[in-house]
Amino acid sequence: MQHLRPESLATIAAMLLLFAAATTTTTHAHNITHILAKYPEYSTFNHYLTLTHLAQEINQRTTITVCAVDNAAMSDLLSKHPSIYTVKNILSLHVLLDYFGAKKLHQITNGTALAATMFQATGTAPGSSGFVNITDLRGGKVGFGADSNNNADNDGAPLTAFFVKSVEEIPYNISVLQISKVLPSAVAEAPTPAPSQQNLTSIMSKHGCKVFADTLLTSSEAISTFSDNVEGGLTVFCPIDDAFKAFLPKFKNLTVTGKASLLEYHGIPVYQSLAMLKSNNGILNTLATDGASKYDMTVQNDGEQVTLRTKIDTAKITGTLIDEQPLAIYTVDKVLLPLELFKAAAPVPAPAPAPEPASADAPAAPKKHKKKKAADAPADSDSDSPADSPDDAADQSADDNSGGFRFGGERYINVAIVVALVFGFQMV
Ligand SMILES: *[C@@H]1O[C@H](CO)[C@@H](O)[C@H](O)[C@H]1NC(C)=O
Ligand SMILES: *[C@@H]1O[C@H](CO)[C@@H](O)[C@H](O)[C@H]1NC(C)=O
Ligand SMILES: *[C@@H]1O[C@H](CO)[C@@H](O)[C@H](O)[C@H]1NC(C)=O
Ligand SMILES: *[C@@H]1O[C@H](CO)[C@@H](O)[C@H](O)[C@H]1NC(C)=O
Ligand SMILES: *[C@@H]1O[C@H](CO)[C@@H](O)[C@H](O)[C@H]1NC(C)=O
Ligand SMILES: *[C@@H]1O[C@H](CO)[C@@H](O)[C@H](O)[C@H]1NC(C)=O
Repeated sequence: MQHLRPESLATIAAMLLLFAAATTTTTHAHNITHILAKYPEYSTFNHYLTLTHLAQEINQRTTITVCAVDNAAMSDLLSKHPSIYTVKNILSLHVLLDYFGAKKLHQITNGTALAATMFQATGTAPGSSGFVNITDLRGGKVGFGADSNNNADNDGAPLTAFFVKSVEEIPYNISVLQISKVLPSAVAEAPTPAPSQQNLTSIMSKHGCKVFADTLLTSSEAISTFSDNVEGGLTVFCPIDDAFKAFLPKFKNLTVTGKASLLEYHGIPVYQSLAMLKSNNGILNTLATDGASKYDMTVQNDGEQVTLRTKIDTAKITGTLIDEQPLAIYTVDKVLLPLELFKAAAPVPAPAPAPEPASADAPAAPKKHKKKKAADAPADSDSDSPADSPDDAADQSADDNSGGFRFGGERYINVAIVVALVFGFQMV
């Protein structure tokens, strides 16, 4: 070790850095799949948490309780042949958005509590259904019940399942319990239509994106692109009404092909739950992508906030309209402007390279700015750039100041210092 030269030291430090970068880009406080994998009696439950993508949602949260059921209880549920979407609803009712260790369960204030659940948090639950009633009973038993009907009359849910045992507790972060049975809930069990049978534009229209939906219906090319992709996986970022309404004059100036491309730019041909978007920074190819580096955008996270960056503007995800594999529709606060259709308002620094691509087949390298006009660019003259409103420019620079490689960067620098210190000591 004492003959280690600074050059090899630097190489080792660089290799360790790369290793650190590869292993720390997705850190989780806990991994429910990993926790349950140790207990074969919950393997079916665990399998379905993965299939429904609930595992990722669980890993994103802290102060949470998972009420697991054993394989026998799961086969009772599966014997009714529910669709995967229905299974997701039912299992999400088994994830309580509060921490209940065995001790707290037996010492509930006033002996009874209503716990909010992930079913309710997904917005799929109508009214105030989706709470789980936990009640301390005689002889040290703890009963669990879910609203069996769709009304919010606090008439008390029948306590149909009972606490069996604590499986694993990571205080304040996650408690995994076993309960005796799957919680019945008429609401969660109601058959959920497969997303491919859902009407995309009516989901959008009903939830604040009517202008985008109506515009989509005017482009036969775009609407069929969207519909054709639902089955294989589709994520849509639909701009809220105020944003799209303000954009309409610019939209109307686009050619027919340009209009279709702009609309298709708001969809990606893969299903991405919010948890997936939060844990993956990188380039996303869109429905408008045709060849390398065309009509793509970058997804970037800032804590809980997911942002989408085009080379012109940056939009934030503000809500979820539907998240049922293979279809997710989110609202965004701005219209996403592709460089291929709109010129950048001001020279914008290239976004920092993302640590890993969001989808396996997406190119990871940052793109060069292409200033040349695409074939389907707006018909108006160069002097009138549709994107140069003061709003867009201001937002862009503000976002650039706050975005970038911040959290990852700090960590890697710390690792570099530690590595340097360790090797420094060994050299003397
Ligand atoms: C609990 O969660 C926090 C924040 O996510 C994390 O920093 C911490 O390591 C977790 N604790 C344990 C024991 O896993
Ligand atoms: C969670 O654990 C499972 C099984 O151990 C593993 O396959 C998976 O990659 C882990 N997920 C994360 C996000 O670390
Ligand atoms: C417990 O019961 C008391 C008296 O009925 C009430 O004032 C209090 O809000 C209850 N606490 C909780 C946590 O429900
Ligand atoms: C929970 O259900 C029990 C039994 O049906 C009922 O007595 C109790 O009031 C309910 N608890 C709450 C907090 O609604
Ligand atoms: C979806 O709903 C819209 C109204 O929002 C309607 O015009 C359209 O025909 C519907 N499409 C299908 C396939 O039902
Ligand atoms: C649309 O194009 C016309 C003519 O090219 C131009 O005068 C007008 O300013 C453009 N409108 C917008 C909103 O870009």
